[in-house]
Amino acid sequence: MTAFDLNGRTALVTGANTGIGQAVAVALGAAGAHVICAGRRTCAETVGRIASAEEMVLDFADPMAARDVFDARPIDVLVNNAGIIRRDDATDFAEADWDAVMDVNLKALFFTCQAFARAVFAREGTGKIVNIASLLSFQGGIRVPSYAASKHGVAGLTKALCNEWAGRGINVNAIAPGYIETNNTEALRADPERNRAILDRIPAGRWGRAEDIAQTAVYLSAPASDYVNGAVLNVDGGWLAR
Ligand SMILES: NC(=O)c1ccc[n+]([C@@H]2O[C@H](COP(=O)([O-])OP(=O)(O)OC[C@H]3O[C@@H](n4cnc5c(N)ncnc54)[C@H](OP(=O)(O)O)[C@@H]3O)[C@@H](O)[C@H]2O)c1
Repeated sequence: MTAFDLNGRTALVTGANTGIGQAVAVALGAAGAHVICAGRRTCAETVGRIASAEEMVLDFADPMAARDVFDARPIDVLVNNAGIIRRDDATDFAEADWDAVMDVNLKALFFTCQAFARAVFAREGTGKIVNIASLLSFQGGIRVPSYAASKHGVAGLTKALCNEWAGRGINVNAIAPGYIETNNTEALRADPERNRAILDRIPAGRWGRAEDIAQTAVYLSAPASDYVNGAVLNVDGGWLAR
């Protein structure tokens, strides 16, 4: 067994049908985990790429949707990946867009962490939580006020939960992906000016791929990171170093 081996572990990944969540699920599976691929729609494609996996319907239209998920059996790793973005000028930004983003990106994430931790503590076990944050956990972005607020919140929660749970056997960490080629960034890549401005600032000189995030998630789910607590790891091709 290596420090990156996940054999014998069960991991649940939210938003596992596509993008970063799909890549994370596949990578955790390749590292040996049994993966529960959770999504608001089918994750069959992801499940098909993993040796030991199953799908689960989890729709954060109800931010408390995961309240009972961890009671049925031991789940060792939770990757909170599901997230949405809404774009508009701050002066025009609608309440519905504020609430939708905060509910999925922050409220659901917190209560899913809570449900996971309660189950881990009830069985006197250990666990790993990996939250997917963002560069906008540190920066404001443009025309995405609720997204920036929610992702700053994810970084804050990661540290707050670390302080409560690190001594009780749960590592809580986050990954801050840079600009990754997924549905989430389609609008940016379709705008030649924004696309060029983004590429010009990335020291690595390219957009990130979902797989770039996936291996960091394996690290934060595995014994290799047992003494890593409350970290928000940038995986951004150097964007924040600039
Ligand atoms: N791409 C980037 O550059 C980037 C950068 C920083 C952070 N992130 C973060 O990375 C995470 C994954 O995003 P992505 O880039 O892979 O984008 P994506 O392809 O749009 O994936 C988002 C995932 O969240 C799921 N989701 C949305 N609303 C949901 C709900 N109500 N209940 C359950 N699942 C829901 C989506 O399901 P559906 O497919 O059904 O919509 C999808 O699986 C997000 O938290 C995002 O904020 C992305």
